[in-house]
Amino acid sequence: MNSRLSEYLELRKRNIPKGVNQASPAMIKEARGALLVDWDGREVIDFGGGIGVMNVGHSNPKVVEAIKDQAEKFSHACFSVALYEPYIDVAVKLNQLTPGDFPKMTVLQNSGAEAVENAVKVARYATGRPAIIALEGCFHGRTLLTMTLSSKVKPAKFKFGPFAPEVYRMPNPNCYRCPFGLKYPGCGVHCADYLEDFFINYVAAEQTAAVIAEPIQGEGGFITPPQEYFVKLQAILMKYGIVLIIDEIQSGMGRTGKLYAIEHWGIAPDIITTAKSLAGGLPLSAITGRAELMDSLHPGGFSGTFSGNPIACRAALAVLEILEKDGLLEKAEVLGVKARARLDALQQKFEIIGDVRGKGPMLAIELVLDRGKKTPAAAETKELIKLCYERGLLVLACGQYGNVIRTLMPLIITDEQLDRGFTILENALQALSDRMAAASHK
Ligand SMILES: Cc1ncc(COP(=O)(O)O)c(C=O)c1O
Repeated sequence: MNSRLSEYLELRKRNIPKGVNQASPAMIKEARGALLVDWDGREVIDFGGGIGVMNVGHSNPKVVEAIKDQAEKFSHACFSVALYEPYIDVAVKLNQLTPGDFPKMTVLQNSGAEAVENAVKVARYATGRPAIIALEGCFHGRTLLTMTLSSKVKPAKFKFGPFAPEVYRMPNPNCYRCPFGLKYPGCGVHCADYLEDFFINYVAAEQTAAVIAEPIQGEGGFITPPQEYFVKLQAILMKYGIVLIIDEIQSGMGRTGKLYAIEHWGIAPDIITTAKSLAGGLPLSAITGRAELMDSLHPGGFSGTFSGNPIACRAALAVLEILEKDGLLEKAEVLGVKARARLDALQQKFEIIGDVRGKGPMLAIELVLDRGKKTPAAAETKELIKLCYERGLLVLACGQYGNVIRTLMPLIITDEQLDRGFTILENALQALSDRMAAASHK
């Protein structure tokens, strides 16, 4: 390690609390496309995208140009003080692009958590009901309400209570670890039908404003519900006038080969939240929903000083253009097929990979100590991340047990980089298996 790097690591330790965690050993100088340049000038292939933010690639020239151009015009006005085009243009675009053949409206915010907070506000205001149902395994953010909605206790919620009231939690459509001990498809997708029982045992349907769900749970381990799940769930919600909020903050903006992951399930939710890859690295989030819900709030019910920042909006317009017009969705679909083939082959080769799941290029492998009992291999997952990084690949973990490795590479990754990345992952898995075998013979 060079001395300047160790100096910065020391400064970081003394000036920034350890509560701001570090998911990888990286410290970077530059990033371009799907490559990071390490402090030492070493090239690292990025399968993390700063947690799913860089779908159009680091420093995408079109995004950089839009940012520069807007920064020269004006960088802030506050949309509630003075209107500006980029905010309106993003809203118009998102209203057109989100699934659903009905009038929609959009509100812009800064972070994913803020988008979820505001989506809940809309559902409560429009229905006049208090309760929100979230799923086991979900993650929706770190503010009081969104951390309450989120499922995993450590580290994001631990000792941060008391939590917000009127949040209920339903079992997860997790086919690898079915909470009902059933098997798909024989289960008849009981996890969706169970909502009717939930209304009897936990909270009345007439008191429920919304159900919130990620199409594919991001932090929860890329849990991918069965094909019938959302159609069934939505049919029940419609019966009771309950709002369906779909959180696309990690799964949206082309991550699964479609602009919105929920398109894979063929439904149109009442409200969709987006953030992360929406503005190519700048902080911007959106709540897009049925016009009659979104427009039910009184003037001033939304807003925020920085919400819908004009530079972030210009970046988002560039991102949407790249996704729509430059064929990035089609590329993502092809990328998904290639990535899935590589991960399936790794599962054949390495006993430690218990499951491969996801859609398009939003894929994950779950590591287990034995395939029968599915004992989570959390320490081994940490070790694998280190082994990958030493070899020039950044990967991120997720999952309730921290034993899942996910693929969030920029969708513009080249075939050569993708191949190199998976070869590193394979070599790292081999090194991990060798170490585990050596340890078991001791
Ligand atoms: C699905 C989902 N919702 C909400 C959030 C919170 O977003 P932010 O960190 O921008 O507040 C995240 C962040 O990982 C997420 O993955």
